[in-house]
Amino acid sequence: MTVTIREARPEDEARWRELWAAYLVFYDVTVDADITDSTWRRVFDPASAIAMRVAEVDGRMMGFALYLTHEGTWIRGRDCYLEDLFVDADARGQGVGRALMDDLVSTCKAKGWSRLYWHTSEQNRTARALYDSYVESDGHIRYRISF
Ligand SMILES: CC(C)(COP(=O)(O)OP(=O)(O)OC[C@H]1O[C@@H](n2cnc3c(N)ncnc32)[C@H](O)[C@@H]1OP(=O)(O)O)[C@@H](O)C(=O)NCCC(=O)NCCS
Repeated sequence: MTVTIREARPEDEARWRELWAAYLVFYDVTVDADITDSTWRRVFDPASAIAMRVAEVDGRMMGFALYLTHEGTWIRGRDCYLEDLFVDADARGQGVGRALMDDLVSTCKAKGWSRLYWHTSEQNRTARALYDSYVESDGHIRYRISF
């Protein structure tokens, strides 16, 4: 099994949409189609901070990491926020998620960004096992108002 991590490409659209749909099912959420369309478009829009790395297993796209960077008040460089990480259920437990995480850590270092952060559900034991191997949770909890 060969895992390759690379930048997303326009030709990934159909497969990304399949994986994205499975990701939304995993979270039991609905995202309006225009938002999904906009997310896809922004990955390739130089004016947008959103970017995506994808994982290929033996040449087939099996996972993605969607992230963005932003300024911060406590840092010199940029903060990198990992917003979405997903691996196809058929490819889990074989190092694909870790490969995406390792790749993003390397990207942050190569770009000179100051920090990488992300959230997950307290109950997401699989993801937390992966994340705990990088760093301890900083204990912050999230407050969010939707408008
Ligand atoms: C979380 C997720 C990305 C992990 O991807 P993956 O490719 O299965 O992970 P890996 O095979 O690289 O495993 C990485 C670590 O995760 C943990 N892990 C993986 N599968 C596990 C399982 N079934 N049970 C418990 N821990 C598990 C292990 O600690 C593993 O460490 P190891 O490399 O020392 O074995 C994947 O399970 C997924 O997409 N889940 C659904 C969406 C999700 O939860 N996304 C993250 C939300 S923030």
